[in-house]
Order: sequence, then C-alpha cells, then structure tokens
Amino acid sequence: METREWEGDFDPLSDPDEKRHLLSVLDSFRSYRRLAHFNGTHVRRQAFYSLPQDHWMMLSKPPFSLLDSLNKLDDLIDSNAELAEAIFMAGFKGFIAPTIDSDWVASIVPEKYARDEYQIYSIVMDHLNVQTTQNDMDKARSCINQFYRDWSAEGNVEREKCFDPVLRALSAEYASRLKYTPELDRSDLKVLVPGAGLGRSVFNICQAGFSVEGNEISYHELMASSLILNHTQKAGQFSIAPFALSCSNHLSRADQFQTFAVPDIHPGTALATEQGSKVPAHERMSMSTGDFCVLYSSPDYKDTFDAVAAVFFIDTAPNVIRYIEAVRNCLKPGGLWANLGPLLWHQAPREPNNDAESDGKYKHTHGHDAGIGDPGSVELTNDEVLALVQHLGFEIEKQESGAQETGYISNPRSMLQNTYRPVFWVARKK
Ligand SMILES: C[S@@+](CC[C@H](N)C(=O)[O-])C[C@H]1O[C@@H](n2cnc3c(N)ncnc32)[C@H](O)[C@@H]1O
Repeated sequence: METREWEGDFDPLSDPDEKRHLLSVLDSFRSYRRLAHFNGTHVRRQAFYSLPQDHWMMLSKPPFSLLDSLNKLDDLIDSNAELAEAIFMAGFKGFIAPTIDSDWVASIVPEKYARDEYQIYSIVMDHLNVQTTQNDMDKARSCINQFYRDWSAEGNVEREKCFDPVLRALSAEYASRLKYTPELDRSDLKVLVPGAGLGRSVFNICQAGFSVEGNEISYHELMASSLILNHTQKAGQFSIAPFALSCSNHLSRADQFQTFAVPDIHPGTALATEQGSKVPAHERMSMSTGDFCVLYSSPDYKDTFDAVAAVFFIDTAPNVIRYIEAVRNCLKPGGLWANLGPLLWHQAPREPNNDAESDGKYKHTHGHDAGIGDPGSVELTNDEVLALVQHLGFEIEKQESGAQETGYISNPRSMLQNTYRPVFWVARKK
C-alpha cells in the first residue's frame, strides 16, 4: 500500500514488545470516541442523576440546562474523535499497512466494508487482539489537545514565543554565513529538530527555506504529525474542542466549549508554493523515529548538521549529558545549537535497576544502547546546564531568561493559568 514515512532502517514490528506498544498507540486513537463518551459524558450523567431529584431537575432547566451541555459535549467529543480516527488511519497506513499481507486482509474483511478504509484497519486491529493501555489513552487525549498549540491559528500566541526566537537564530546564522559564501542557498543549512512533537517547527523551518530533519520518539506524535504533514487535504479540515473535556475553572460554558479549526494552514499547499530556497520543500523535510540520544550519537550522524533547533526538549532527558553529547556528535564543527524551553525535568529519579521500559515509553531505540532507558537521572538548574554545555565543547553566544512568558496548551479564558518563563540560548560547537 503506502511507503513508510520515516528515515532509517528501524522496523518496529520486528520486536514483539515494540509491536505491542505500537498497536496499543494505534488503538488509543481508535478508542478515543468510545472512551471519551464514557468518561466525558456517560459517567457525568450518572453522577448528575445521582443528585437529589429536585436538584438535578432544577439544573436541567434554563438558565442551567446542564443536560443540554452534556449533549453539546457529546457533539464536541465526536468532533475531536474525527481527528483521532484520522490519526489512527494515518498511523496504520504509515506503520502497519506496508507490513501486512493483503490476501489475509481480504479474507477477514466482509465485502460490505471493502471500500471503507477505517473499517478495514479496524477489523485488522480486532483480529490482532489489540488492547490499548491507560497511559496510551491519556497520551492520545493530550495529543488531540496539542493540536490547539501547534496547528490552530489561535495557538500562534504560544507558538510564536517558542518557535520564532529559534527561527530568527537560524536566519541570522544563514545571513552571517552568506557574507563569506555568497552562493549559499538556505537549503544548504541542514537543521535537526529533536523531539519534533506534532511537526510544527519542522514545517516552519522548512517553510523558511532550510533543510530540516525532525526526530521523535513517541508513536502518538509521529502518527499525528504524519497525518497533518502528509495526509490532510485542506486548512481547517478538523475542528477540535481542546478544553471541553476538562470541566474545571471555566467562567462560562462557551469558554469550555470553544472550538478551533486545524490545521490553520495546509502544509502541502504552503510548502508547494514556498520560494525560500532553490530546492523544492518536499526534498528538504524528513522525519526520523527513535531515541534522539541513541540515534544522533552514532557515527552515522557524526558532523552532519549545521544547526540543532531544540524547543521544549532538553528537559525530557533523564541524563542531559547524553543529549549534549548527541548534539555535539551530530553538529558540524562551528555548528549552532539554538535551545528554548523550561526545565521541567520529565523523568522522575529512577533507581539503578528500575525497568524504564515498563510502560513501553523508553523502548523504541536502535541496537543495544538503551538511551533514555539507561538507569539513572539527574535534574539540573539552568546555570548547571549552561556550564555543562560549555564544559562539553560549546561556546555560549547568547542567553536570555524570562524574556518571554508562555502557556503550553493553556486556555486563555480559564481561571487557572500555568505560565512558563522559558530560557533561550544559542551555543556554538567549538
Ligand atoms: C514537550 S514536547 C515538545 C515538542 C516540540 N519540540 C514543541 O515544542 O512543540 C517534547 C517532545 O520530545 C519527545 N521526546 C522525548 N524524549 C525524546 C527522545 N529521547 N528522543 C526523541 N524525542 C523525544 C516527546 O515525545 C515530545 O514529543
């Protein structure tokens, strides 16, 4: 059917644990509709009807009309589920379809579903006895909400604070190199985006004319970015309600039920008309899958990139030294590392013999190096990170802290606001 959409020789289906994890992620998107209806409205209706009858009857009538609100919530869940199921199909196409035998598929799919892609994939999943995990379901839900930040017009308030400083650093680097190499094309600057998430900064950097490789470890993010970058037909194809399922801290129902069109821009069309470089955009953008610190510390990637653009990423490291070493390995001498983010260390301290792969989170590595699955973790301050970066062979050229404040998928109308004051620094490999 489809060809695969990631770089390298990584085959997730060759390892039984990896395969189970991949299928669980697929199933988490497929199950979004059913589980969101169950947890989002069914359970709430039950709790509502358990109130004293005169209370729930009062709340059912205007101006409250809470049962109408639950019906509205059901509609919004269906709308979110359209996106979740599209991700399921993109993920199935990208990761599973190329590996399965079409005769076997034909033998298990009833004739009436022969033209219904969703049903075909779903029947295959049923035959594979796939069952998602709670952890993967939670991630599917937050992945849908993440589209608000990364691919809605309104999310640009958060995006520009994070991505624009990095893009400006790349443009400044190009401008300064141009002085010495007048024939330099923007595509000559090879940029790596580790922890690419939903692919927005990869897209932005490509749209700015540079060559860019995104890297991502999470199947949720890989499938979702694959949908948006490769399989959407138009801007505004989906409508999401990222704040609907959380019922706390709303001033009004209208705030809770806000909807947003995604994507705000059709990546295919935008890149087809992009003029920033001599090389067509589709030849300048790629995605790799796997653990950044394993993949990019390998000899294959030595001195490959002109720049690394890391946004909200380095704090995903249990051992940030490994990340710094990987950046040092894959950057060319004199290459630039632009970094922006807070230090919300994602990995709780782990004991030496803890099995970090217990939830499938740290698998997905290449070869025998367990990468972020290695034992141990450390949580440093910004001063310590910067000292380490210098100690490991970089010169810090610029640093700003607290200059920008930003939320991360936060509802601007909520009574609760979480705000980051991320640091931005630029380092050069000596
Ligand atoms: C907080 S998100 C930020 C995403 C994106 N950089 C942005 O700013 O929108 C961090 C991302 O890094 C990914 N990630 C975490 N550890 C990773 C690793 N070792 N290798 C590659 N990606 C990783 C996560 O899956 C997640 O998508």
